[in-house]
Amino acid sequence: MQRTESPPTCIQTSPRNAHEPALTVLLTADQIRDRVRELAADINRTYPAGRSLHLVSVLKGGFIFLADLVRALNRQVTIDFVAVSSYGAGTRSSGEVKLVKDLEIGIEDRDVLLVEDIVDTGQTLAWLRTTLGARRPRSLCVVSLLDKPSRRIVEVDIEHVGFTIEDRFVVGYGLDCAERFRHLPFVAVLDRSADDPADVPSGDLEER
Ligand code: IMP
Repeated sequence: MQRTESPPTCIQTSPRNAHEPALTVLLTADQIRDRVRELAADINRTYPAGRSLHLVSVLKGGFIFLADLVRALNRQVTIDFVAVSSYGAGTRSSGEVKLVKDLEIGIEDRDVLLVEDIVDTGQTLAWLRTTLGARRPRSLCVVSLLDKPSRRIVEVDIEHVGFTIEDRFVVGYGLDCAERFRHLPFVAVLDRSADDPADVPSGDLEER
């Protein structure tokens, strides 16, 4: 039996009222799936066959990307998570990075692949590279689904980039705005020009 249903509100791309921010799809689920496969193939070529890889995902935004990426890799992987916070107002980061959750597994002599959702100013990644690099992994590389180079304050190396995007605030596929929209299967630009209920008051500790 065929059922006719209205689309779920989670993929509504126009605002329902003046206070609801509009979403414009930037990267479809198909585009993301294809690019994740290409990234996995690049990563597979980077390391010798049979070498296991230790993936460190940066919570929370990287969790969906990590889940798709590991299933496209052709080798043994181990996984760990790190969580950091930055002081900032809503979508802005002050650059002061704090460790909220440390790794559970030591990374010394491991081939570590840091899995990021997005690199914006570069301050978080620069801090993570320094902090994790000091623990003497055998190698430390970064894969980021998204990169916003026009926003960069600190120069950082990113070995594998999924998509380079303009200076737009994006949500979906793990990325949030005040904890909303992470579940969306696509990446969308969030129009924050309207009155923004999702903004966080200045000075609040904003967990990423
Ligand atoms: P950075 O230290 O400025 O590079 O900040 C990186 C972090 O800021 C990301 O891992 C995200 O948590 C957050 N971020 C930056 N831009 C966006 C965005 O467009 N959407 C959602 N989160 C973002």
